[in-house]
Amino acid sequence: MRFSSRALAVSESETLRLSNEAARLRAEGREILSLLEGEPDLPVPEPVIRATQEALAKGLTRYSSSTGLADLKAAISRKLKTENGVAAEPENVLVANGAKQVVYELLQALCGPGDEVLIPAPCWVTFPQAVKLAGGAPVLVDCGADHQLDLDALERATTERTRALILNTPNNPTGAVYPEAALRAVAALAAKHDFVVIADEAYEALVYDGAKHLSIASLGAAARVATVQTFSKSFAMTGFRVGYMAGPAELTKAVGRIHSHVTGNACTFAQHGALAALGLGAAHRDEWRAQHQKRRDLAFCLGGELFDCVKPQGGLFVFADARRHLGGTFKTSSDLAGHFLREANVAVAPGSAFGREGWLRLSFSAPEAVLREAFARMERTL
Ligand SMILES: Cc1ncc(COP(=O)(O)O)c(C=O)c1O
Repeated sequence: MRFSSRALAVSESETLRLSNEAARLRAEGREILSLLEGEPDLPVPEPVIRATQEALAKGLTRYSSSTGLADLKAAISRKLKTENGVAAEPENVLVANGAKQVVYELLQALCGPGDEVLIPAPCWVTFPQAVKLAGGAPVLVDCGADHQLDLDALERATTERTRALILNTPNNPTGAVYPEAALRAVAALAAKHDFVVIADEAYEALVYDGAKHLSIASLGAAARVATVQTFSKSFAMTGFRVGYMAGPAELTKAVGRIHSHVTGNACTFAQHGALAALGLGAAHRDEWRAQHQKRRDLAFCLGGELFDCVKPQGGLFVFADARRHLGGTFKTSSDLAGHFLREANVAVAPGSAFGREGWLRLSFSAPEAVLREAFARMERTL
């Protein structure tokens, strides 16, 4: 069988591959603890479940408008204005099957063969592959040792082929939250070189120690920013598959044309659940953050005994420098992750999957007892 150059260029998601491997070992009877997944372990809020069930019971199971339910787009527009300071009207909003699909469709809209997309690294595994699927070239630009953006390096990596920069704050895998000065510098770079910023804010609800998540589109840059958010990480609605973008009308329309052929609407009753989620308000947000901060504190403390870690200010992961354990039996982060899976029955993701060899990504979205047991097991095998 012959495959397209696209199919040959794209590689399988390393984190999904490991997750499948962990599932296979579980099916063999092994008790695997997973620090792999980027999904909150807390339950979906009850009002969301109820609204979804009611939508099903009322027979709201047909196609909705391809770009999303009008009520949901209106609620997203209000949320973006009040919580993020992003002035997006409902017609600037497009609802899709998760932020992952939005990123894919944005790149399809912006990027063609030979075009370049800047991606601060380490980065989420999907970004470079989504650029390749659009025929473009991902240009990974290393962040500093503190995981903050290296603005000079970003400027040096910009060429006349640069069509977009993917800005992910709070960051997966590092947990870095970018401050206003860095966001303003990125906005200035985008204006100077006429490219679009794809602002992936999937983890916007998860910021710790009083850190504030800032949307770059709220800083006077909205004309060249696509803000991407999701219900996955803020409400544990990962399986609902509802995410969205807000951007300039012209860009939202272009993405909408692609979206209408790729998939059409996101699941209609899941969109009703998403509408209920936006009604939960500040009490949910504060509790969500507090619960995750407790997990972050514990994982950072336990992880610090085995690895060198920068304290994550946001997100769901401790990104751990494991190089002190490499060079002998284990040559790479992948060797070490494989060792933990086989010998400790603990699944973790190697940094190489995110473009940073020598590190491990440790998800802290697990109950306290699981976190304690997982770190104790890893320690026993080192
Ligand atoms: C940075 C980032 N963006 C987007 C997503 C996917 O979000 P969704 O579930 O809405 O597709 C993830 C999930 O891991 C992520 O880490």
